[in-house]
Amino acid sequence: MISKAMEKALNGQINKETYSAYLYFAMAAYFDSENLEGMAGFMKVQAQEEMGHAMKFYNYINEQGGRVTLDAIDKPQASYKNPLEIFQLSLKHEKFITDSINKLMDQAIKENDHATKEFLHWFVKEQVEEEDHMAKIVSKLERVGESGQGLLIMDAQLGSRK
Ligand code: FEO
Repeated sequence: MISKAMEKALNGQINKETYSAYLYFAMAAYFDSENLEGMAGFMKVQAQEEMGHAMKFYNYINEQGGRVTLDAIDKPQASYKNPLEIFQLSLKHEKFITDSINKLMDQAIKENDHATKEFLHWFVKEQVEEEDHMAKIVSKLERVGESGQGLLIMDAQLGSRK
């Protein structure tokens, strides 16, 4: 069993993970509109991963005898300046998610909720990977700068993500 406060907090995380999927879909749509299909594909895979994260929270709440309740999803930003801005925003967003996971962990520790701590460990590690991934892409895009050729190489590389 989880506490009512923990149930509420975990439901809040379902909303954030689902919003993440929505945000990455919006970014994919921008890339598709710019004919950067590789980057669009990368963002579609990312969006699917985020729905997987939301489902992990969904299943965990149920396993713990809690009630899943879904809230409205915010509208994501639809237009962007360029790929660099998108990946900078992605990195910023992942830092926000990391902070949210850390707050959930703080709550689990405070409540002596060992099962939730164990459940959240996967997300703590996942967020290290997510931030690292986005930070590396930002760094490469900064080097690419205004080079159209560099951008196309990056597009091809990011499109190989399965
Ligand atoms: Fe589910 Fe990208 O955090």
